[in-house]
Amino acid sequence: MTPIVSTVAEVRAVVDVLRQDGKTISFVPTMGALHDGHAALIWAARETSDFVVVSIFVNPTQFGPNEDYTRYPRTLAADQKLATQSGADLIFAPKPEEMYPARSLTSVEVGKLGDHLCGTSRPGHFRGVCTVVLKLFNIVRPHTAHFGAKDYQQARIISQMVRDLNVPVTVKIEPTVREPDGLALSSRNRYLSTAERAVAPRIYQALQAIQAHTMAGEVDVARLESKLQSALSSIPNARVDYASIVDAETLQPIARLDRPAVAAVAVYLGTTRLIDNVVLNHGE
Ligand code: PAJ
Repeated sequence: MTPIVSTVAEVRAVVDVLRQDGKTISFVPTMGALHDGHAALIWAARETSDFVVVSIFVNPTQFGPNEDYTRYPRTLAADQKLATQSGADLIFAPKPEEMYPARSLTSVEVGKLGDHLCGTSRPGHFRGVCTVVLKLFNIVRPHTAHFGAKDYQQARIISQMVRDLNVPVTVKIEPTVREPDGLALSSRNRYLSTAERAVAPRIYQALQAIQAHTMAGEVDVARLESKLQSALSSIPNARVDYASIVDAETLQPIARLDRPAVAAVAVYLGTTRLIDNVVLNHGE
């Protein structure tokens, strides 16, 4: 079984020796409740480097006051098994006090990339994500770090942070892993009732339909967004948080598909908030 350590000092002791020996380190940050999407990141990390560190930390600073921090699934024993099978060499599973000792004051300001999409409905979320990821980078000191395209805005914001703050880590983005029926794997899928799970694949189907419309030549973003919105609204028990088509690089709204774009959605099924996205090939 892959060993689990819980203190910064223990991680540092391991990675310092590895670095002295000239070994390369890959890092996969997670909040646990690991599934095959996480496993794919660990595999990719395994292929990239000599040593793979996985962190498991449900980060309090990225949850809003009325979000699911306390009920977020914590399944460390099962996570250790999956991380081991996927090729992880070390698991870092700190307690909140280890990551945020009393009197922590500093955080990362994200800027414009955090203005739209999840940034609107989850104020402060990306500040919490970037702060914890930068801290983890400084603890683990990896050469490469692997993130999933499922969280498109997160991956984009972290890549930007690394560039803007000269963080000496190469960020790699891995494709979204899906269930056979198309639903993107997520730790939150386990909250879904049987009825919600049955209709959940319609989120990805709605995104695929938008892809098909763009392939057929539609470039008007307002029309595409309204199609997306109505396909998602017709899912039983669904409430659309956002359904937006934005510039793939700046994440700002666009009027026409005249550049690389991404269709990104957040949908509540009952009380569970799911996100997904597809990249759109521009027609012009
Ligand atoms: P978490 O939701 O556990 O996700 C950890 C990593 O797994 C992220 O990079 C996410 O994009 C990726 N991932 C999740 N589902 C995936 C899927 N179906 N296919 C491919 N990759 C997938 O994202 C976080 O944790 C946190 O915000 C974190 C970055 C760890 C900071 O706390």
